[in-house]
Amino acid sequence: MNAEPLKARTRVAVIGAGPAGLMLSHLLSLSGIDSVVIDLRERADIETTLRAGILEQGTVDLMTGTGVGARLLTEGQRHEGIAIRSRGESRRIDFTALTGRAVHLYPQHEVLKDLIAARLAAGGDLRFGVSEVSVHDVTTDAPSVRFTDADGTRVELSCAVVAGCDGSQGVSRTAVPEDARTDYFHAYPHGWFGILTEAPPSSDELVYAHSERGFALISSRSPSVQRMYFQCDPAEDAGSWSDERIWAELRARVNGNGFELEEGPIIQRGVIPMRSYVIDPMRHGRLFLAGDAAHTVPPTGAKGLNLAVSDVAVLCQALERFFHQGSTELLDSYGRTASDRVWRAQHFSWWMTSMLHADADADAFGRRRQLGEIDQLTESVAGSTYLAEAYTGWPIAHTNPDSVVADTITGSADRTP
Ligand code: PHB
Repeated sequence: MNAEPLKARTRVAVIGAGPAGLMLSHLLSLSGIDSVVIDLRERADIETTLRAGILEQGTVDLMTGTGVGARLLTEGQRHEGIAIRSRGESRRIDFTALTGRAVHLYPQHEVLKDLIAARLAAGGDLRFGVSEVSVHDVTTDAPSVRFTDADGTRVELSCAVVAGCDGSQGVSRTAVPEDARTDYFHAYPHGWFGILTEAPPSSDELVYAHSERGFALISSRSPSVQRMYFQCDPAEDAGSWSDERIWAELRARVNGNGFELEEGPIIQRGVIPMRSYVIDPMRHGRLFLAGDAAHTVPPTGAKGLNLAVSDVAVLCQALERFFHQGSTELLDSYGRTASDRVWRAQHFSWWMTSMLHADADADAFGRRRQLGEIDQLTESVAGSTYLAEAYTGWPIAHTNPDSVVADTITGSADRTP
């Protein structure tokens, strides 16, 4: 039973094969830094689990600039704006006219497929279906990660650095002792009821709708499958809703003045909670947290995946400096640099949520004030420029000019931490 674990070694042990972990491993490999990625889930789960689908300009540039953007460019859709609907009228925010930037609609699991394919083609070491993961000795310079491989072998993976990329429920976050961290947490009193429907697109661009009955969002997955959401109670039981009741609710929030949803069979449904969370600091010794392991955002601003990618772009630059030049300078400033953007995204996501959702506790003044805010935003160049900048994404911090990601970071000034 208690046989000695199999000993293995790598420079960076990456816990979690989601966007943060896979992108980090991909970027590091381009810089000649080896890593091992482990995940509790099977590859097929990772490649099919439905998540959000909006890629910021910087995420697109990083993917295309590092050789994993081919399918994104052919199968993804470039969106140059969104519509904001209130009082039954749509007003467009033109991202490209306002900022020169755009986003791509390309589902997260497609990004993961592309990253997994790239890692495997490059001979990368990815272990799916592992169990009993634990993190050890991160406050020394010889940390390790222990786990049981899919075939039942106990493994002790020694490394120089552990990257905690295993999401909000993973072991990495809890490996930071409580007395060494501050947790910032905010629960929103709303959930999102999400559906997938087999129907043609209702709109060329995403529609964010404010209505007296609450928020709704019309998004897409492909020419024949659409993603839609509407605000609900976070404790709502999605299974108790008939298809007709779902469509009636969506119609009531979105249809009107010539706009009509394309309806079809509902092939998937579920309720998503809305939370904000940030851990500070984003490291503990040689353990560095990235993506949802370090922070959670509500889906309103479509920032989750993009923050994971920008975190690891910053972490990769820091690890290159560490492994190639022997300096911990950028590792020491990683959390500060990454959290700068995290807090902008927290604000943006909170602001979009509060502007567009019906608040059960709001008085008549609060409800009317919301309309004033939406009018001001959509009719003012300054207001809509803020939304366009935030939605298409702030530049990824450019900290290491020698990094493999340096050329892919567009629109950014060099920054010295
Ligand atoms: C999605 O397509 O799932 C989606 C798009 C935009 C959001 C959230 C989710 O803000």
